[in-house]
Amino acid sequence: MKRLKMASLFAGIGGIDLGFKNAGFQPIWANEIDKYCAITFNANHKDIKLVVDDICNINGKDIPKVAVLSAGFPCQPFSIAGYRKGFEDDRGNMFFQIMRLVKEMTENNNKPRILFLENVKNLKTHDNGNTFAVIKEALEHYGYFVKAKVLNTCEYGNLPQNRERIFIIGFLNENDYNNFKWPKKIPLKNTIETIVDWNKEVPKKYLYEQDKKCYKLLHENIKEHNTIYQYRRVYVRENKNGVCPTLTANMGTGGHNVPLIYTNYNKIRKLLPIECLMLQGFPNDFIIPSELVDSRVYKQAGNAVSVNVIKRVAEKILNAIKETENANN
Ligand SMILES: C[S@@+](CC[C@H](N)C(=O)[O-])C[C@H]1O[C@@H](n2cnc3c(N)ncnc32)[C@H](O)[C@@H]1O
Repeated sequence: MKRLKMASLFAGIGGIDLGFKNAGFQPIWANEIDKYCAITFNANHKDIKLVVDDICNINGKDIPKVAVLSAGFPCQPFSIAGYRKGFEDDRGNMFFQIMRLVKEMTENNNKPRILFLENVKNLKTHDNGNTFAVIKEALEHYGYFVKAKVLNTCEYGNLPQNRERIFIIGFLNENDYNNFKWPKKIPLKNTIETIVDWNKEVPKKYLYEQDKKCYKLLHENIKEHNTIYQYRRVYVRENKNGVCPTLTANMGTGGHNVPLIYTNYNKIRKLLPIECLMLQGFPNDFIIPSELVDSRVYKQAGNAVSVNVIKRVAEKILNAIKETENANN
C-alpha cells in the first residue's frame, strides 16, 4: 500500500507528525500560528509544508487530500447551549474550527478518513462531561465513529514521563472503526538514566547556585541523586516513582516547573531543553534552532506530545485501514 498522507492542525513542533511518520504515514501539510514553533518545525520537518497562520484564516479547500487529519488542539470551555445553535457559531473555539475545516474539506470531496485528536486527560470530565459529549456528538454528526482513551506515556510509550493524555479518533469507515485496537501497555525499559546524565557538565545558566533566591529552599529539599524534582513556586516536589513529572508548557515561564536534578557533582541543575524533548520521544539529534531562547524551547517541549505514544496509536490505525483494504480485495 502507498504511504498514506496526513496533515496536522495546531502542529506545534510537529510531534504528532513525527509519530505518524515513524509509523509509516507521510505527513505533507501542517498549520500552526506561533512563529517560534514554526522555526523549530521548519528546521526539523523539511518535507512538510507548514502554513503559519491563525486556523481561522485557513480554508478547508487549501488542505491537500489526506487520509488523516490530526489536531492537538487547545482545550477551551464551550457551552452545550452554544453548540446547539450550530457548530460554526463559536468562531473563537478551536474545536469548532476543526469541524469547520472538516466541513469545507468534505465540500471539496476531500473528507479525511481518520480524525486524530489529542488533548489533556481532563477533557473527559471537563464541565461535567459536557465538553467531551459535544466533541463526540459533533464528530458523529459529520459521520465519524468515535473511539477515545487516556494513555500514559510511561505505560504506552516506553518513555520515563508521567503524562496522561486523551486520544480521540474519528473513523469515517465503520470497518476501520471495528478493526482498530488500542495499543497494549508495554514495560518501561527506558529509565530516566537513559536520557538524563547525572555526571554531565552543563553551562552555568542551567545550575541553581547561591545567587538564586530559591537556592536555600532547593538545597533543603533536593538531596537524592537519580530522582527528578519539580520546583513549584513555594515547594519542591520529589518524584518518587522513577519517572519525570508531566512536562508542561509553563516550564517556559520564569523557570518554574522545569524539572530539576541533583547532579553527581552535587549541584542542582535544570533538565536541558534537549533532555525535555527526549522525554517526549524526540530524537537526540532533533534540531533546536540557535535563535530560540531556552524558555521558548521548554514551552515547545511541554506543549508537544509523546512521539512514541503517537507512533504506537498510528501503527494501530494503519493496521486497521490495511485490514479493511485487504478484506475489500
Ligand atoms: C498543545 S499545542 C500542540 C503541540 C503539538 N501537538 C506538538 O507536538 O508540538 C497547541 C498548539 O496550537 C497552537 N495554536 C493555538 N491557537 C491557534 C490558532 N488560532 N491557530 C493555529 N494554531 C494555534 C499553539 O501555538 C500550540 O502550538
